[in-house]
Amino acid sequence: GKFYLEDPSGTVQLDLSKFHNGLYTESCFVLAEGWYEDSVLHVNGFGFPPTEPSSATRSYYGNINFFGGPSSTSVKASSKLKQLEEENEDAMFVIVSDVWLDSVEVMEKLNIMFSGYAAMPPTCFILCGNFSSAPYGKTQNRSLWRRQSIIFLFSRFVFVPGPEDPGPANILPRPPLVQNITEEFSERVPFSVFTTNPCRIQYCSQEILVIREDLVNKMCRNCIRLPNSNLDIPNHFVKTILSQGHLTPLPLYVSPVFWAYDYSLRVYPVPDVIVFADKYDPFTITNTDCLSVNPGSFPKSGFTFKVYYPSNKTVEDR
Ligand SMILES: *[C@@H]1O[C@H](CO)[C@@H](O)[C@H](O)[C@H]1NC(C)=O
Ligand SMILES: *[C@@H]1O[C@H](CO)[C@@H](O)[C@H](O)[C@H]1NC(C)=O
Ligand SMILES: *[C@@H]1O[C@H](CO)[C@@H](O)[C@H](O)[C@H]1NC(C)=O
Ligand SMILES: *[C@@H]1O[C@H](CO)[C@@H](O)[C@H](O)[C@H]1NC(C)=O
Repeated sequence: GKFYLEDPSGTVQLDLSKFHNGLYTESCFVLAEGWYEDSVLHVNGFGFPPTEPSSATRSYYGNINFFGGPSSTSVKASSKLKQLEEENEDAMFVIVSDVWLDSVEVMEKLNIMFSGYAAMPPTCFILCGNFSSAPYGKTQNRSLWRRQSIIFLFSRFVFVPGPEDPGPANILPRPPLVQNITEEFSERVPFSVFTTNPCRIQYCSQEILVIREDLVNKMCRNCIRLPNSNLDIPNHFVKTILSQGHLTPLPLYVSPVFWAYDYSLRVYPVPDVIVFADKYDPFTITNTDCLSVNPGSFPKSGFTFKVYYPSNKTVEDR
């Protein structure tokens, strides 16, 4: 029942009382303010490092491309891309999570959604897993993907696998769905991208991070003290992620990470948009010039999803 502050030079026992906003879990970075007496640090202010807007980071580092992708310099530096982005008011991203391909009801609602967008195809559909309502076991129908066909010639489809889609156990980042499951689908839907979880999307000058994981509940279950009001949980959650600069600021025994790919989970400099596809209630939160969006679970939240308009950086509920 005791907590310690720890760094490579040693440990100090803490007497914790006042907490600032956030979900404090073991192994996160904190700033602790107080007085030291009898080998105990009596803390009268316990908080996270302040968040830093991406414009502030970039004023130190210039045009270094931290985000990834083919460009050697950051896309933020391109005024041409910025202009394209602002002028293209028709651009939109449709974000849906828990796309259960084996559920008749989900498929019906998806088809209604697709026919609604047929006249005005979105730039991109971001479709997150699990792609099956039952765990993917031996008895699972492998023809799931063979039966699907989506006729959209101008939209991209990005498929982000969920925690229980076929693949390795719960360790992040998660590789794309294996090709032998998806290849027939890919042949029919040419602009489909089966990618990793989390993944990164660059649209004009904007940086978008997508993760499919139940992080909100995981963080709450593992935090050393829950905030007083449940209403603010999404705000505490987003603040925690941005302050820690990492998508899973949890001990490794709670959320294992492939060491060599840890950089794919970093949130620094802060991107323009983070999609937290989480079964927690949907939310849209702006913090530190970053838009955090949770579409919620499509089947469990009454078939709601989110639409993002990059030209004016707004999100709408649908
Ligand atoms: C943002 O742009 C979209 C697409 O042009 C438009 O439908 C929406 O109403 C705009 N939202 C705001 C808040 O201006
Ligand atoms: C799908 O993913 C969620 C994470 O939201 C997990 O809790 C659930 O058990 C998974 N499996 C199924 C069959 O829904
Ligand atoms: C899998 O789906 C196909 C196509 O709908 C069907 O013909 C087949 O019987 C299903 N197999 C199982 C084991 O459910
Ligand atoms: C797909 O490939 C994996 C490994 O490459 C293999 O274990 C699995 O049996 C294959 N599945 C099918 C349906 O061919």
